[in-house]
Amino acid sequence: MTFSRITGTGSYLPAKVLTNKDLESMVDTSDEWIFTRSGIRERHIAASDELASDLALHASRRAIEAAGLQPSDIGLIVLATTTPDMIFPSTACLLQSKLGIHGCPAFDVQAVCTGFVYALATADMYVKAGHCKHALVVGTEVFSRILDWKDRGTCVLFGDGAGAVVLSSSDTPGVLAARLHADGAHTGILSVPGTVCDGRVEGSPFVSMDGSAVFKLAVRVLGEVADEVLPAAGLAKSQVDWLIPHQANIRIIEAAAKKLGLGMDKVVATVDRHGNTSAASIPLALDVAVRDGRIRAGHHVLLEGVGGGFTWGAVALRW
Ligand SMILES: CC(C)(COP(=O)(O)OP(=O)(O)OC[C@H]1O[C@@H](n2cnc3c(N)ncnc32)[C@H](O)[C@@H]1OP(=O)(O)O)[C@@H](O)C(=O)NCCC(=O)NCCS
Repeated sequence: MTFSRITGTGSYLPAKVLTNKDLESMVDTSDEWIFTRSGIRERHIAASDELASDLALHASRRAIEAAGLQPSDIGLIVLATTTPDMIFPSTACLLQSKLGIHGCPAFDVQAVCTGFVYALATADMYVKAGHCKHALVVGTEVFSRILDWKDRGTCVLFGDGAGAVVLSSSDTPGVLAARLHADGAHTGILSVPGTVCDGRVEGSPFVSMDGSAVFKLAVRVLGEVADEVLPAAGLAKSQVDWLIPHQANIRIIEAAAKKLGLGMDKVVATVDRHGNTSAASIPLALDVAVRDGRIRAGHHVLLEGVGGGFTWGAVALRW
């Protein structure tokens, strides 16, 4: 039987750091309000000439190198983004070209902040079915482009970045189980409602959010999907070595850990330094914990995503 396993991780953060202090001079807010409500201290912001595919390229090269591979070894690209370079071609195709490779299937997944979990679960099926030996799975966002920098309710929460993994076929299991969900009935609580029509944007091109409704729904569905994916993976809650939830808000992360009975010492949290980087947040946090040596061979890692759509999902891994 063929399994799939993550063989390399990589990430990239744009050089510019925007602190809560910086935001104090942009909108009516304070470092204290932002930190107490969200756990965020700072976030990275892409340069005006940096696109989602550029961030993805840096993260992908690092993941491919960590896997001991060349770009030409990649047989599939699945890329999650909410902030694509253009309407089409897909950012996955643009990344493929920047990597200098040709011919392998490449497509985008749009599940907002759950995007990386959707992309990983999708690539897992391709690899397990024998369609490719090495898949590149990417989450990349320039979320700063879709923020209204006059709206203090949203602009303080998000940031830019990219994370990537190489998922390879293996004789031993890495991805143990994945579960994905969506409920389009909740579109109204988190969206960018604008669309391009007749050469102009119709409707708002900025993030619109009912923060309190999103908070409650996120906590509930993260608990539910953990209860679903862990038995499917044959794991008890106590066997989870590392929880890596979507990095939206430290209070949501703490609630997710509490539902699993895990202390915060078992949680990878980067929200303080990255903010909410949407589809990039989980692979960014994963790469940090792999590179600093927290995640080691044999560890059980639970990835949990939640976001616009509404979408949510989880992947359980053995490292
Ligand atoms: C947005 C969020 C941080 C707000 O926190 P909260 O504890 O619900 O905030 P509260 O309702 O207690 O406070 C809201 C008040 O703060 C004000 N406020 C909003 N943004 C502010 C800011 N950046 N600085 C200062 N005050 C702010 C509001 O105007 C409101 O004031 P009012 O009570 O006078 O009307 C929280 O709801 C949240 O994190 N939601 C989830 C968001 C998320 O994760 N989205 C992405 C999911 S993928």
